[in-house]
Amino acid sequence: MTKYRIAWMPGDGIGVDVMEAARIVLDALELDAEYVPADIGWEFWCREGNPLPQRTIDILQTCTCGLFGAITSKPKDEAALELAPELQGKGLTYSSPIVGLRQLFDLYTNLRPCKAYPGNPLNYRDDIDLVVFRENTEGLYSGVEFHPLPGELRTIMTKYNPRMTRFEDIPGDEISVSLRVITMRGARRIIKKAFEYARQYGYPTVTLVEKPNVLRETSGMMTRVARTVAKNFPQIELWETNIDAQMMWLLKNPDDYGVIVTSNMFGDIVSDLSAQLVGGLGFASSGNIGDDFAVFEPTHGSAPKYAGQYKANPTAMLLAVKLMLNWLGETEMAEALETAIAKVIAEGKVRTYDMGGDSSTLEVAHAIVEKL
Ligand code: IPM
Ligand code: MG
Repeated sequence: MTKYRIAWMPGDGIGVDVMEAARIVLDALELDAEYVPADIGWEFWCREGNPLPQRTIDILQTCTCGLFGAITSKPKDEAALELAPELQGKGLTYSSPIVGLRQLFDLYTNLRPCKAYPGNPLNYRDDIDLVVFRENTEGLYSGVEFHPLPGELRTIMTKYNPRMTRFEDIPGDEISVSLRVITMRGARRIIKKAFEYARQYGYPTVTLVEKPNVLRETSGMMTRVARTVAKNFPQIELWETNIDAQMMWLLKNPDDYGVIVTSNMFGDIVSDLSAQLVGGLGFASSGNIGDDFAVFEPTHGSAPKYAGQYKANPTAMLLAVKLMLNWLGETEMAEALETAIAKVIAEGKVRTYDMGGDSSTLEVAHAIVEKL
């Protein structure tokens, strides 16, 4: 028996390429793990009408954690057109399997570190060290959406909120509603994780990024909860900013910020911007973490046009492996891996196309292995 069972989910597109790089590094590290292949991604949507088959969920339930590459996701109408002919017209709706996994396994923390490694020619500035805590299960990505708007729902909404009468004349099939659901529990646990992380790694501030002046109820709740949680961490200062202004300040003074905590969609946005500050999505890793299960992935998508070409920068994937090792408690291995990654970046000899080089995905993995 191995110490760990890791669900192995390459997904599709460059997910497959970067997961191969991950395996090279994990084998070199001699992690005592079994890697259990699990189906997820676009081809299972097209073939079976489900990008996250039940058998994958069953496998995940037997695993310590999961490692995930990338998947193609498309808006619902485009996705429906790509279904196998026998599945067409059955009312199947595509929804992102990674968002599904996050909700199904209650992986409420989306941990997204963005660090400028010295010598990376793509760094916007060299002193950036940001960690985004994105709430991962609720907010605007809760999946509670309506179209057409059912009449009963409209009646109730109008009864409880007179602002709804503004839309009285619009027929139900001309209104779409996506609910931004924030719960006190959801807010509390993600904000607490952000503060605990700041304390553990010595960050002096936690920045709550919301928009309570407009989203009075949902961002308002995040703000109230943050102020309460902050009281338990007197050594850490709580900064409160609005999402729009924060985007500007992140470009202007990125080194002012350390730990950022925010709701699901804002976190999706802030984390892409932060990734770009440290070289782009090729350097951004992501941990979807719950109380006793987690799935690690690069923040980037599947880039289908590069699939199978081994061009993609595997650094994001390998940093996700590093997050996984940390989560497993294999901190020495995690540090060794990060140091090796940093050395290869600093040396600048082996670089993928995004960094101006012509090395392949796997050449980068082998170069990192040599530094281990
Ligand atoms: C991310 C991605 C996903 C998300 C997509 C692929 C559904 O953008 O992990 O940031 O929105 O969460
Ligand atoms: Mg995203």
